[in-house]
Amino acid sequence: MTQSNQPPASDVTRRHFVRASSATLGVAAMSSPALGWIQGSDTIKVGLIGCGGRGTGAAGQAMRADDGVRLWAMGDAFDDRLASSHGYLTDGHGDQVQVDPERRFVGFDAFQNVIDSGVDVVILTTPPHFRPEHFKYAVDKKKHVFMEKPMAVDGTGVRSVIADAQRASEQGTNVMGGFCWRYHHPSRECYKRVLDGAIGDVKCVHSTYLSGPLGTKPRQDGWSDMEWQMRNWQHFNWLSGDHITEQACHAIDKINWAKNNMQPDRCIALGGRQMRSGPESGDIYDHFSVVYEYPDGTRSFHDCRQMPNCWSNNTEKLFGTKGDCYINSWGPTNIITGENAWEYEETSPAPSMYQVEHNELFKAIRNGDLINDGSEMTRSTLMSIMGRMSAYTGQPVTYEEALNSTERLGPTVYEWGDVPVLNVPVPGTPADWSAIQANAGS
Ligand SMILES: NC(=O)c1ccc[n+]([C@@H]2O[C@H](COP(=O)([O-])OP(=O)(O)OC[C@H]3O[C@@H](n4cnc5c(N)ncnc54)[C@H](O)[C@@H]3O)[C@@H](O)[C@H]2O)c1
Repeated sequence: MTQSNQPPASDVTRRHFVRASSATLGVAAMSSPALGWIQGSDTIKVGLIGCGGRGTGAAGQAMRADDGVRLWAMGDAFDDRLASSHGYLTDGHGDQVQVDPERRFVGFDAFQNVIDSGVDVVILTTPPHFRPEHFKYAVDKKKHVFMEKPMAVDGTGVRSVIADAQRASEQGTNVMGGFCWRYHHPSRECYKRVLDGAIGDVKCVHSTYLSGPLGTKPRQDGWSDMEWQMRNWQHFNWLSGDHITEQACHAIDKINWAKNNMQPDRCIALGGRQMRSGPESGDIYDHFSVVYEYPDGTRSFHDCRQMPNCWSNNTEKLFGTKGDCYINSWGPTNIITGENAWEYEETSPAPSMYQVEHNELFKAIRNGDLINDGSEMTRSTLMSIMGRMSAYTGQPVTYEEALNSTERLGPTVYEWGDVPVLNVPVPGTPADWSAIQANAGS
């Protein structure tokens, strides 16, 4: 269903300009494409890959961030998702949406067609299973990238994203990760104080992400295994990384933020599935509890749960040698107690953190500055993955084991056919995708 992909004449002209500018500006411009070719009133062409809820929101935020942004190409696995996103964005943003029909791409190769359509920036908002492959291609083609969290679902994917974020840094293209609380003004102000020493050394962090379950999509007649799993992706580990990786990674990122990106030695996790049942619940758990152990002898703790009719909570408590810090992200409440007591006072509503992300990304592109969130975003993603690995296996998992794991979740060929569903993991008898693939002949 992929559509043709010929760059329009205006794009060819523009590419000449890029090459000419680079030659004129020399090595500095070559090493930082952001310099010299998207300035002043130039338009910035954006491609959206994954036209669901978050992608549609992010594309709107990109257009609000800079008057020169044009939504230029869109790609999705499904034409109905693309059409509804395109309609919504056109209603909201009028002429800034310039996605001619030949630049609307559907299917598993839609990402390549979007990236090759003459765009400057790509927004990667598919389920995270696909992120490493999409990011790699975007970096190969020297595009600026906004990529949603989590960055991958397994160690294999994280290694790939680490390498490509490094390449982006070397070639001078921006990489912004969707750990949006890092762009939330009250949280930023609070964590800055913590990292400047307001509570002394951070000895322990406890973070939670306790929420209700996400909606499920029962299978419809005519849907292949692949279509059903893709439309119900949050519930399949190979697509989402389970909810500790897909959703609670935000709260694990807060631990990582408070510990100033310190690499944990290992984690020990418990988890299970008490409430979820039925095929539409896939193979994921509904609760996890993780202890992270750090080389400085400290420990941090994370709990997440997706269950109905239970207490909801999304907070962090930091314990330091000179005081404590309490953050309720849904408040917002940010309180520091002890020697340097402080409380965030909302004088006016904080801007949307999602909008701040795009404001800062497009400003950096205009100014020739570089944002590269690669280090924190891959560490937080891997910390969530190692928590899942430990809970599934019933074993401690070191950071290095998770990072160097050869586990690669999911089928290796993407087509609208059969895809096995793994049994819900039982600690001590982990599921193994390579064995499943061998049995299924995929
Ligand atoms: N930062 C945040 O607060 C936040 C909030 C929501 C979602 N997210 C993240 O954003 C991502 C998307 O989540 P969502 O809620 O928008 O999901 P969604 O299901 O609404 O959208 C995902 C879209 O990607 C499409 N897609 C799936 N596989 C594809 C492929 N291989 N190529 C192209 N398109 C493909 C789907 O058809 C769908 O339209 C996830 O990683 C999620 O964790 C982040």
